[in-house]
Amino acid sequence: MPDLPGPLALVTGSNRGTGRAIRSRLLADGYAVRCLNRTPCADHTDPVTADFADPDAAARAAVLALAGAPRLDLLVVNAVTRGFGTVAEVGARDWDEAVAVNLTTPVRVVQAALPLLRRSEGHIVLMGSHAGSRPFEGGLAYCATKAALKQVAEVLLMEERRHGVRTTLLSPGAIRNLDDDDSAYKMSVESVADVVSWAAATPRDTVLGEIELRPGRLDRPPVVGLDRLQYV
Ligand SMILES: NC(=O)c1ccc[n+]([C@@H]2O[C@H](COP(=O)([O-])OP(=O)(O)OC[C@H]3O[C@@H](n4cnc5c(N)ncnc54)[C@H](OP(=O)(O)O)[C@@H]3O)[C@@H](O)[C@H]2O)c1
Repeated sequence: MPDLPGPLALVTGSNRGTGRAIRSRLLADGYAVRCLNRTPCADHTDPVTADFADPDAAARAAVLALAGAPRLDLLVVNAVTRGFGTVAEVGARDWDEAVAVNLTTPVRVVQAALPLLRRSEGHIVLMGSHAGSRPFEGGLAYCATKAALKQVAEVLLMEERRHGVRTTLLSPGAIRNLDDDDSAYKMSVESVADVVSWAAATPRDTVLGEIELRPGRLDRPPVVGLDRLQYV
């Protein structure tokens, strides 16, 4: 198998938003980066694409994306679908898609990557969300799948450190993932990518098991103080 001069990362959903910034940051860090996307990146040709709504196809694509790689130092599971809708409204298709994209496929991609991650004593970063611990109305599929991902991260921490593989769940709050968003109360994709890079760079005898990341500036909420308790 060909040797690599530096570390290798695989990033899902790297064609836009936070994933694109993570890929750029990792390239700047000296990683070779392979992408596993539904939509190819604009600036290079992805060897393989997959719709994560089909976990079998995504798992096959993950194997292909890693074909020939002698090692895998970092896996960033970032792709997401939101599937917003209340319990009363959410359709079976949206629910199934959210479970597949946000939960089943991430597990299948981790499974596909584990042999190489073990060989390299690599690192897994799962992109969680505040939604995983702060559920909200209309967010059933997103909140439930992100909450389940927290458990995936914890099980990985318990099982895989004995093989040298570390796992970080990065649970951010609001991110300016859309190019036309200029909110001062959300984090830039570059800042979140910096944190992914730092999480992957901690000393090998440490792991940041979970990172809860908030925007540095807070807008005044519409309801504050004691009155908030009326809205829980
Ligand atoms: N944005 C926030 O405020 C926020 C807050 C907390 C946590 N997060 C987490 O941070 C991560 C990145 O979020 P983001 O807002 O940067 O994402 P985003 O801009 O919405 O981009 C989503 C990515 O996931 C891919 N994707 C969606 N459906 C897919 C499918 N069926 N198959 C394969 N890929 C699919 C998209 O590809 P296409 O271009 O093909 O659609 C895109 O690359 C996510 O895990 C998210 O939960 C985000």
